[in-house]
Amino acid sequence: MQYIRYIVGSGQHTNSHLYEENGYIYQAPITFYTQKGIWDLAPGFGGGHNSRFNRIIGQECMACHNARSAFVDGSENQFLNVPHGIDCERCHGAGGEHVRRKLAGEVIDTSSQTDFSIVNPRNLPSRDYQMSVCQRCHLQGIAVLQNNKTFDSFKPGMLLRNVMDVYLPEYDGNQTQFIMASQAHRLTKSQCYIKSEMTCLNCHNPHISVKYTPKQQFNNACIKCHQQKTCSLPEAKRKANNNDCSTCHMPPSPSIDIPHVTVHDHFIRKPIPETEKKKIENFVRLANASNPNPSALSQAKGYLHYFESYTSGSTPSLLDSAEHYINKAKSNHNLLQLLDPTVHLYYLRNNYGKVIETATKVATQNIKEAWTAYRIGEAYWQQKNAPKSAEYFAQAVKLMPLNHDFNNKLAMAYIAQNQFKQAQPILEMVVKKTQNTYRHLPTWVLCT
Ligand code: HEC
Ligand code: HEC
Ligand code: HEC
Ligand code: HEC
Ligand code: HEC
Ligand code: HEC
Repeated sequence: MQYIRYIVGSGQHTNSHLYEENGYIYQAPITFYTQKGIWDLAPGFGGGHNSRFNRIIGQECMACHNARSAFVDGSENQFLNVPHGIDCERCHGAGGEHVRRKLAGEVIDTSSQTDFSIVNPRNLPSRDYQMSVCQRCHLQGIAVLQNNKTFDSFKPGMLLRNVMDVYLPEYDGNQTQFIMASQAHRLTKSQCYIKSEMTCLNCHNPHISVKYTPKQQFNNACIKCHQQKTCSLPEAKRKANNNDCSTCHMPPSPSIDIPHVTVHDHFIRKPIPETEKKKIENFVRLANASNPNPSALSQAKGYLHYFESYTSGSTPSLLDSAEHYINKAKSNHNLLQLLDPTVHLYYLRNNYGKVIETATKVATQNIKEAWTAYRIGEAYWQQKNAPKSAEYFAQAVKLMPLNHDFNNKLAMAYIAQNQFKQAQPILEMVVKKTQNTYRHLPTWVLCT
């Protein structure tokens, strides 16, 4: 029996459901789509990709959908504490100092002065800083973390690009398709944004839901800037639509990642006629939406991640792009710094020989990325070298001790060498952590 512990979603578009097992959080495969009033498979579970009860909810999801949560390092999806929703500090930064000063009687008239004891996103020094606050969550894409950063590192007052690079695929044609949480990317494509100092706050007060925001607030924002360059559509035609600027210029549109919902396209431009929308759109490149000058290494990682997570491995040319950037990065990075993307590249090409050749140049204990150690272990496993695969799986487990898959792989590598004594405590630990169900384990574990 599983109980739903948490619901994700404002309920305006969808409600998705999470359950918990010993602090490990997973997504249930069913979602309620409020706009159509129907139950269906959760986003990403359709089209033959039903991962049943195994979809983990890691730090990346949680960091966009909640207040700061107590994530357990070394796990993929274990949390000691899961708050119930996005709180003030996600936009205003830590509030302790502010509270202390107010309790001490410090009063500041914010209509004429800035209260520096807390962040007000509107008063951040430039548009980049202001946008970073909203982009942290409304710019969903292929996130490549900077060195030593985690998905919890960003705080209001920082620049997003100092924490992560966010990549999104760019298409030719009319660019009418987009994912749901992409407002902060779509907006930046607009001439309105490029040729002004516009931010999200021109139109939104994030304390008030759009549900309770009168249309006129959005239209007033348009009109304020568009005194000179006004609408070229004859007034009679606009009147038919109450002269409601945003309905025509920010039309509702389905998103490509979440079924049965519509969101408003934040790419403000002349409306694209229905017949023009279906034009075939070809992938052009992976564009960095948070950083105009990403490093070659970051771009390589972006392509690898995109290939792996979004294309079901169907576009090998993306890996050629990754290789191009790895080669470019060689001029200012040493072998160890290039190890992770190089191993990842050969691994995704199923070239296990090359994975191993690369691995032999670096001592096992110098590997700092658990997934790299895992991939090397897997390459040795594919080549039926159980002792070597155990060595690398052990390193993966050392770096990420609470990853069930890594532990299972290590146990398997021991069993392949008849080292049952080594395998047993590992398997017992995994079984204990997932005691409500054995579904995370391969069936053979049940027989040993
Ligand atoms: C970069 C931040 C980010 C990440 C990562 C992210 N989301 Fe979201 N997600 C959002 C935002 C912002 C919205 C709301 C967009 C809107 O209202 O247009 C959203 C919308 C949703 C919705 C629909 C909610 C509604 O309002 O009805 C669901 C469900 C959801 N996300 C689940 C997930 C899951 C599960 C993951 C991890 C696999 C995830 N998200 C990862 C930012 C993110
Ligand atoms: C999604 C981001 C976000 C969240 C969450 C949020 N705020 Fe705000 N807050 C803002 C922004 C942006 C402004 C500036 C609005 C403006 O000037 O139009 C603001 C302004 C304020 C102001 C006015 C400050 C001044 O100097 O006039 C107060 C007070 C405030 N927020 C309190 C809170 C409290 C309390 C919470 C939690 C219950 C909260 N906010 C949650 C984004 C947020
Ligand atoms: C902060 C100021 C600002 C706001 C708010 C704003 N715009 Fe603009 N908009 C501009 C500027 C500046 C341009 C570029 C004008 C030019 O190129 O001469 C522009 C261009 C446009 C264009 C032409 C785009 C193109 O690709 O040629 C349209 C259409 C448009 N705006 C509609 C709107 C609508 C509708 C709204 C409200 C939902 C809006 N704008 C809000 C400043 C703004
Ligand atoms: C020029 C005005 C304008 C600007 C600037 C703007 N928005 Fe919006 N936004 C709208 C309108 C209009 C809606 C639709 C409101 C409704 O439901 O009627 C909307 C709706 C939304 C929604 C609800 C989901 C959806 O798409 O319907 C989210 C989330 C959102 N905006 C986020 C943002 C973020 C984040 C930014 C800054 C990156 C931003 N918006 C900038 C006008 C704007
Ligand atoms: C911590 C992540 C986070 C941050 C930071 C954040 N948002 Fe959101 N926002 C979300 C999520 C998630 C949703 C969707 C709500 C849901 O379904 O749970 C949302 C919903 C919205 C909506 C539509 C919901 C509604 O009822 O109006 C608007 C508008 C919006 N955000 C604007 C902003 C703006 C503007 C900023 C920057 C000042 C901002 N957000 C910062 C995560 C965030
Ligand atoms: C009924 C839908 C509709 C409404 C309502 C509407 N527009 Fe437009 N708008 C259009 C169309 C269609 C075009 C392109 C017409 C053309 O081909 O020149 C356009 C063009 C524009 C342009 C580009 C002008 C140029 O010379 O390039 C701007 C700016 C603009 N609209 C702003 C607005 C603003 C601001 C409002 C609200 C006061 C508004 N629109 C209301 C449909 C609409």
